[in-house]
Amino acid sequence: MDDFAYRDGSLHAEGVALSRLADRAGTPTFVYSGATLQRHVASLRSAFAELDPLICFSVKSCPNLGVLRTVAAAGCGMDVVSPGELQRALAAGVAPERLAYAGVGKSRTALEEAITLGVGCVNIESAEELELAARVAAELRRPASLALRVNPDVDAGTHRHTTTGVRTTKFGVGIERAEELFDRLRDHSFARLEGLHLHIGSPVLNADRYSEALRITLELVDRLRHRGHAIRVIDLGGGFGADYESGQSPAPADYAAAIVPLVRPLRERGVRFLLEPGRFIAANAGVLLVRVIRVKREAGKTFVICDAGMNALLRPSHYDAFHFIWPAQPREGLVPSRRAADPGLSGLERCDVVGPLCETGDYLALDRPLPPLREGDLLAVFTAGAYGMSMSSRYNAQPLPAEVLVEGERASVVRRRETLTDLIAHEMTPTPLAL
Ligand SMILES: Cc1ncc(COP(=O)(O)O)c(C=O)c1O
Repeated sequence: MDDFAYRDGSLHAEGVALSRLADRAGTPTFVYSGATLQRHVASLRSAFAELDPLICFSVKSCPNLGVLRTVAAAGCGMDVVSPGELQRALAAGVAPERLAYAGVGKSRTALEEAITLGVGCVNIESAEELELAARVAAELRRPASLALRVNPDVDAGTHRHTTTGVRTTKFGVGIERAEELFDRLRDHSFARLEGLHLHIGSPVLNADRYSEALRITLELVDRLRHRGHAIRVIDLGGGFGADYESGQSPAPADYAAAIVPLVRPLRERGVRFLLEPGRFIAANAGVLLVRVIRVKREAGKTFVICDAGMNALLRPSHYDAFHFIWPAQPREGLVPSRRAADPGLSGLERCDVVGPLCETGDYLALDRPLPPLREGDLLAVFTAGAYGMSMSSRYNAQPLPAEVLVEGERASVVRRRETLTDLIAHEMTPTPLAL
């Protein structure tokens, strides 16, 4: 599953003891495993080998440059959704033609930049955006390779905040409008609408939801072909699950079994495929290390107060998400054999693991059985590599955590911890506006 394991009672990332790493780097710190990132890319590539897809790592899941460079070196392109993410992908050395560019609110400037650079697949989210992209391509006199994001109206069966393939969400255009939009761009001199894009949500733990969405989309591909529109690219999106609990997520082979047989005939006709996984690659490749500041017993409850909470990892509070948490050096040999809400050990105490912020929603876990804890203990919050640092905030004037990349026996700080000076740096000198 990943390269975070207990050896001699102490949690390691690959060859590095996390207690030692935390002594050096401080807390809160996100720690990523290069080996896990690479293995996840390789396992997806192997499961989908028949399609030979371009695997575009979803930058939003974990935009750290050290992580992006690692997945780029493993052969990934990237999925970006903003000029900032585009900048990161380019800085990681990814060629523009290996990028997919999504996002419902791309500005004219963003489209100009994408088209000028020659981004491989600009994913269009609305009729209005299609018109603008075509105009921009004509003005720049540059070819633009566009894919229409279709909304198949399939419920991905995930949290409402990350459900993106039903009609009431802001994403994509209704399948029934697609033919008319393809007709509009027929014979355009610069903008080529030649692809379809699907992304129904995240995480999608039932692989059949992909089949459902694909069947609807493939009927559209046939209708388009009969109207003389050849589809050359299909971007299958992201959404593959991660093991927040041991064995929770389908394997890449399960997703491939739901997808590959349906699109095999298109592959044989030369259609190219893109995947946009973020969570599957990055989630289990990262842990968040936090330090226990105080253990507070009050009103019959035990609160384990840590030096970070929702400011570093928003997912428990925002999505009711489960993250397995365990001490990096548990007392009395209490090493878990599986990551689960109940790890099946005795001698545990039920605790709320909370952060220091002034909000009741500031927690990492509620009512969680944990080994005995004391001030100064180091806790690892597992499966925190995706949508962890990328969703972190400075709420309550908390500096952003550090990020460390481990490769074998080596550990590198790939983002230094913010300082208190950083927190006020942009506000020191008011600039008069020329009105
Ligand atoms: C368009 C698009 N592609 C890919 C992803 C990545 O999803 P995941 O991290 O679940 O693979 C997202 C996530 O929101 C997305 O919006």
